[in-house]
Amino acid sequence: KNTINILAIESSCDDTSAAVLQNDRVLANVIANQKVHAEYGGVVPELASRAHQQNIVPVIETALKRSGIDKSNLDGIAFTKGPGLLGSLLVGTSFAKSLSLGLKIPLIGVNHMQAHVLAHFIDDEEQKKPPFPFICLTISGGHTQILNVKGHFDFEILGETIDDAVGETFDKAAKIMGLPYPGGPFIDKLAAAGNPDRFSFPQPKTQNELDFSFSGLKTSVLYFLQKNQKENQNFIEENKEDICASLQKTIIDILMAKLKHASKVTGIEHIAIAGGVSANSGIRQALKNAEKDLGWTTYIPKFEYTTDNAAMIGIVGYFKYLDQNFSDQKIKAKARLSV
Ligand code: KG4
Ligand code: ZN
Repeated sequence: KNTINILAIESSCDDTSAAVLQNDRVLANVIANQKVHAEYGGVVPELASRAHQQNIVPVIETALKRSGIDKSNLDGIAFTKGPGLLGSLLVGTSFAKSLSLGLKIPLIGVNHMQAHVLAHFIDDEEQKKPPFPFICLTISGGHTQILNVKGHFDFEILGETIDDAVGETFDKAAKIMGLPYPGGPFIDKLAAAGNPDRFSFPQPKTQNELDFSFSGLKTSVLYFLQKNQKENQNFIEENKEDICASLQKTIIDILMAKLKHASKVTGIEHIAIAGGVSANSGIRQALKNAEKDLGWTTYIPKFEYTTDNAAMIGIVGYFKYLDQNFSDQKIKAKARLSV
């Protein structure tokens, strides 16, 4: 068979998403964001799973309709088995299981972290596919990892965060500044109008040079803002662009230093970024600059495939389908799961 149609479902956190892929091309990728969490300043797990239950049927139906593929022409159902919020994962998992049973087609469990990386292999004019081996920096709301990717399913973890994830750092700093949740995109936007050299924040040291630590940076931002607000109640309001630009620059400097080190120790100059924070315009620019300045070939995912989406689950589903690597009905959702 030379056309494989995969329906993919992603429900690991607060986005309900469904996609239809034909081989490595995306025919439809539908994402329903959950607005309920904004007023709490973070994801509330119970509300997330309830919203997934409400969204999942319409999201899947919309994806199928947009793709033009009839249910009867699907070859497999891919879904996120972990890592993520258990209650959220369970919604996608049970739905995928029953669809696979009902349609009598293979069920394919997908690791969400592998999917962020393998999103680079979606065939799309707006991105290019890296060759093996390549370095991938996966930066999201829950994870920060630097990988040597040797094959579609062959990952070596070179380093990871020992405390907070990069996305968490963006979101927590944004919360202190009174910005909406999730704050990453707001910091990005404000940073564009600010002076990145106005304030300086500390760059943490880690024992393994390729590990990350962001909790110290988060705390220093908190103290810095508290101290200045005490002296001038309008400090944040008057300086928010410069604060965001300076914080974003600090984070990007940390990430780029790790990538340089990873490239040096492995000798690999094909460098990719993935995950929600790879939507950040500053990190995207820094990677582009590294092509000229460092001679790297860099891989920046299409914007749509950076934050959580089912298309990335679908591409992994396609590769697993080709390997006939299927799951059975006993498969369980797992909150914790390594790449
Ligand atoms: O990959 P993702 O959608 O979910 C997880 O798997 O965690 O990543 C979400 C994270 C959030 O922390 C969000 O603030 C961050 O990605 N993010 C950004 C930007 N867009 C999303 N951070 C910085 N700049 C952005 N433009
Ligand atoms: Zn994610």
